[in-house]
Amino acid sequence: MTTFVLATANAHKTEEMRAVLSDLGIELLPRPGDVPEVQENEVTLEGNALLKARALVAATGQPAIADDTGLFVDALDGRPGVSSARFAGENASYDDNVAKLLGELSGVPDGHRGASFRTVIAVAYPSGESLCVEGVLEGRITYERRGDNGFGYDPVFEPTHTGGRTLAELTPEEKNRNSHRSNALRALNEVLRTSS
Ligand code: IMP
Repeated sequence: MTTFVLATANAHKTEEMRAVLSDLGIELLPRPGDVPEVQENEVTLEGNALLKARALVAATGQPAIADDTGLFVDALDGRPGVSSARFAGENASYDDNVAKLLGELSGVPDGHRGASFRTVIAVAYPSGESLCVEGVLEGRITYERRGDNGFGYDPVFEPTHTGGRTLAELTPEEKNRNSHRSNALRALNEVLRTSS
């Protein structure tokens, strides 16, 4: 059985990973409490995910998995992208970030509000080998917040195929069926299945 240490301390993400990877006979371990979080200072999702996975390999000596997600808005030339968590400032709340996004897009008309969520998952091994997979969710930014579910930019992100509902108006099951993160996890499942 292969064992991977996870960079995330987020219980929800850990469960989602377990659910998708469970049929591969993979054991997922939480990040040990004495291993600190890594400063995410790379300029790409891939760079940050690899940075986190490699730091965890160095600290534990075991294969590691890390992910990084960003919202890429067409009308903002891809911003906030890799800086999505701190769009409105270093300690910005989800609500601050959403307010800044809606402000920057005020006056941007229908047809120009396209955006995508992108998740990169990196796997790093003690041998120095590594791999990355990506999952994407296409959609648009709404004019105002709708829905109470989810987190982050969910209330203002309307995926292309949800009949006009935002991610925050979907049930968790509906969101997880086709989200950027679940698409990346499925790609990871495929890569690990065919490489083992
Ligand atoms: P992380 O790399 O998963 O920590 O994501 C970085 C930032 O992207 C988060 O702080 C959120 O603002 C945003 N984000 C990530 N995933 C989602 C999602 O599924 N819905 C809405 N926002 C998200």
